[in-house]
Amino acid sequence: MTQTELEKGVGEVLIDEDVLQARIRELGAEISVDYAGRDLLLVGVLKGAVFFMADLMRELTVPCEIDFMAISSYGAATDSSGVVRILKDLDINVAGRDVLVVEDIIDSGLTLSYLMRNLGARKPASLEICALLTKPSRRRTEIPCRYVGFEIPDKFVVGYGLDLADHFRTLDYIGVLTPEAAAGIVDQAGSLL
Ligand code: IMP
Ligand code: MG
Repeated sequence: MTQTELEKGVGEVLIDEDVLQARIRELGAEISVDYAGRDLLLVGVLKGAVFFMADLMRELTVPCEIDFMAISSYGAATDSSGVVRILKDLDINVAGRDVLVVEDIIDSGLTLSYLMRNLGARKPASLEICALLTKPSRRRTEIPCRYVGFEIPDKFVVGYGLDLADHFRTLDYIGVLTPEAAAGIVDQAGSLL
């Protein structure tokens, strides 16, 4: 699909590229101050956080190492079940490190709640979360999120790494799909299962 074809599916731009990038610069500056003189390890949650992680780390003025985890939650396309499986674990031992988990979006919070318990058991020196987006009204479990890019309403969003059935990740902004585009993708994904 070309970008133009992709963009036809977007009904509303929720956060445009300039606003997104400006907020990421602010987050980068804040994290750089907080982690000065520490041992920062950014842990990106695949695949959605890849764009955010790449831009955020380039805004840091402190050294950092990076690693990634891939997790999958069982359940429907747009709803988290809280049952989480690790598909790719970290390469790096996080014991004694200052770990900052970089996530695209916190919705129910169930995925991160599992991940934080799992990483916490590995005895990092510190463990915090930086999420680009959060939907507070959807929260089903308390998640202490140290850095938040934007609070958004209860809408399913795509772009800048976020997907619906692996579509729309490559948009430079955060958008909401038209109902027709969303239904089309869900139908297509359903028929492939
Ligand atoms: P949670 O466990 O409900 O917090 O779900 C978090 C995960 O669900 C995120 O890492 C995303 O992969 C996915 N997710 C939740 N809301 C959205 C959305 O609006 N767009 C795209 N993915 C989403
Ligand atoms: Mg995700």
